[in-house]
Amino acid sequence: MKAIILAGGSGTRLYPTTQIINKHLLPIYNKPMIYYPLSLAMLLKIKDIYMVVNPQDKSLFEKLLGDGSQFGIRIQYVIQEKPRGLSEGILLCSPYIEHEPVLYLLGDNILYGHDLPKLLESAKKEVESSGGAYCFGYYVHDPERFGIVEFDEQGNVLSIEEKPKKPKSHYAVIGVYFFDGQACKLAQNVKPSARGELEITSLLEEYLKLGKLKVKLLGRGFAWFDAGTYESFLEAGNFVATIERKTGLMIGCPEEVAFRNGWISKEDLLKLAKKMDKTDYGKYLRRLAEEEVHAF
Ligand code: DAU
Repeated sequence: MKAIILAGGSGTRLYPTTQIINKHLLPIYNKPMIYYPLSLAMLLKIKDIYMVVNPQDKSLFEKLLGDGSQFGIRIQYVIQEKPRGLSEGILLCSPYIEHEPVLYLLGDNILYGHDLPKLLESAKKEVESSGGAYCFGYYVHDPERFGIVEFDEQGNVLSIEEKPKKPKSHYAVIGVYFFDGQACKLAQNVKPSARGELEITSLLEEYLKLGKLKVKLLGRGFAWFDAGTYESFLEAGNFVATIERKTGLMIGCPEEVAFRNGWISKEDLLKLAKKMDKTDYGKYLRRLAEEEVHAF
């Protein structure tokens, strides 16, 4: 499976800061926001990553992440000329993914929880073997801000709506989606919404019409952040800081995932650590290479 990470958009909800810097390059506690979705894809052992970026920001992403070889992966940048909506990412990447299943990640979403890789792994396997689209629902207090999914009593999906004025439930669809090889074809059916965007929920509706949409609810053991507003941005940073200090383990550290996956050697890791010897991040990488960080 390949992964697409959406890191374009206008970031207007983080103005004035994002007038001059792309949101996904801002730090969530001790590392750039983009590290979190990137590490998630890597946790699922995905090596081919397409990153959708604005034309003016491509060089900054390249400066930070290069071609991904330092993490043992391949990153290719796909330009989105204008933020026309989340479903456009699929269309733009269709020459690369063609009929393959794909993990689709929103670059400003941060997900953390017990046995998360296992949960995502089983979704990945299900889409690879049975097709369809697979996504996740999370209880929120402000459903007007998100894509909202409605269920019947048996837990079947009845509807999906983007930022509804009168939400039919409190379950937001989070920015982690698995799509089968039909996504590129189905995305062509998506028409701009009333606010003029090619919504991701419209693509999910296409799968729903075919009876091929699965939404799994994430329970108490999970924390999810859409770090696209100042409040949630701060909340996400505070959360990461607390967990990292308590556990002594990092969240969203691509170097660590690469090392544990066996994609980079101890020497590679030490080289990466050396560049940032002055920070706790660099020291963590060094301790990791020297096997002083526990595995779980
Ligand atoms: O966070 C979950 C929510 O994300 C879902 O519940 C919604 O269904 C989904 O539409 C999305 O809503 P947002 O309003 O939060 O989307 P936002 O505009 O913040 O974009 C999400 C990410 O995608 C963000 O990292 C920027 C990037 N993006 C956005 C647009 C509109 C692009 O790369 N290209 C775009 O055209």
